[in-house]
Amino acid sequence: MQRAYILGTGFYVPDRVVTNDELARHMDTSDEWIRQRTGIERRRYAPDDVGCGELAYRASLKALENAGVARESLDCIILATLSPDYHFPGSACVLGDKLGLPGVPAIDIRAQCSGFIYSLSVADNFVRGGQYRRILVVGSEKHSMALEFADRGRDVTVLFGDGAGAVLVGPTEEDRGILSTHLHADGRYADSLWLECPGSAHPRWVTPDMLEEGRTFPKMKGRSVFKVAVEVLPQVITEALEKNGMGLEDIDLFIYHQANLRIIESVSMRMGIPPEKIYNNIQEYGNTTAGSIPIALHEAVEKGLLRKGQHALLASFGSGFTWASAVLRW
Ligand SMILES: CC(C)(COP(=O)(O)OP(=O)(O)OC[C@H]1O[C@@H](n2cnc3c(N)ncnc32)[C@H](O)[C@@H]1OP(=O)(O)O)[C@@H](O)C(=O)NCCC(=O)NCCS
Repeated sequence: MQRAYILGTGFYVPDRVVTNDELARHMDTSDEWIRQRTGIERRRYAPDDVGCGELAYRASLKALENAGVARESLDCIILATLSPDYHFPGSACVLGDKLGLPGVPAIDIRAQCSGFIYSLSVADNFVRGGQYRRILVVGSEKHSMALEFADRGRDVTVLFGDGAGAVLVGPTEEDRGILSTHLHADGRYADSLWLECPGSAHPRWVTPDMLEEGRTFPKMKGRSVFKVAVEVLPQVITEALEKNGMGLEDIDLFIYHQANLRIIESVSMRMGIPPEKIYNNIQEYGNTTAGSIPIALHEAVEKGLLRKGQHALLASFGSGFTWASAVLRW
């Protein structure tokens, strides 16, 4: 059976490093609080004139180079984001334009922190079904311009950073690639982590009241996020292992969405996954939502932590709620 595999990876984060101490100058928080509760030490912020599509473009160039694929051979672009350049059209179109690829289909995926695994799943099915052969899959976020730098928004603001990761997906006859993907969602929790306004659920996109009440900033019920995440992540990891007839011992590397080090540690401890099998970089970049897994995947491969023939398990959880997993034979 023809499988889809990842031909190459790449990522881009902006140069500007923002430390916890810098955030503490704008809101009532501290380096100690942020490190202890989240594991985050610093994150990157993009300049004003760099949006989601530009971050995605820079990550994509690196992935194309890494894969040795010319941009002209791309036949599909899939981009996951919750921070698109415009309300419409989608940032996949913005990225296609930056790459100079008129006519190539460009699909935005709205699955927040699970956006990358959802996108990978769509790409996997396109490739296995024979519709496309060179798919660019990107997760890209510019969070910094949407955060509230005040005490009211501190719980959310300290978590997020800007960045993008990209992979090239194509067919292979070899016994490797994306072995399975597993996607889930539960919209009952929509308001546990959301950016409510602007939106078409309201009589107007945005009103002075919405701005006044801070409803145009992301809001989070942190405890609810934590509680559900540590419940469903083990389920979706187990689902992926069972689908492939594998045990934890068969996985060489676990890459979780970099939401919060405490969530990752709690899930891993419950399941008995040893820390040396987990790749984390949340300390450096914070939570880059759809960008986090492809950024971590690229770093792990570059560091030689995932080599040909080895198995990686990707797992995510986030707004929606959405959660997902994938098993790769590298
Ligand atoms: C956000 C989170 C770290 C908060 O930790 P917690 O132990 O649950 O803390 P609480 O919510 O009980 O808040 C404790 C106090 O810290 C305060 N606090 C919140 N954010 C703070 C910050 N950045 N700095 C300092 N204090 C903060 C709260 O206001 C609260 O104060 P109070 O007791 O006076 O009301 C935790 O709930 C969490 O990790 N949730 C998951 C978040 C996540 O991963 N989101 C991304 C998903 S993709």
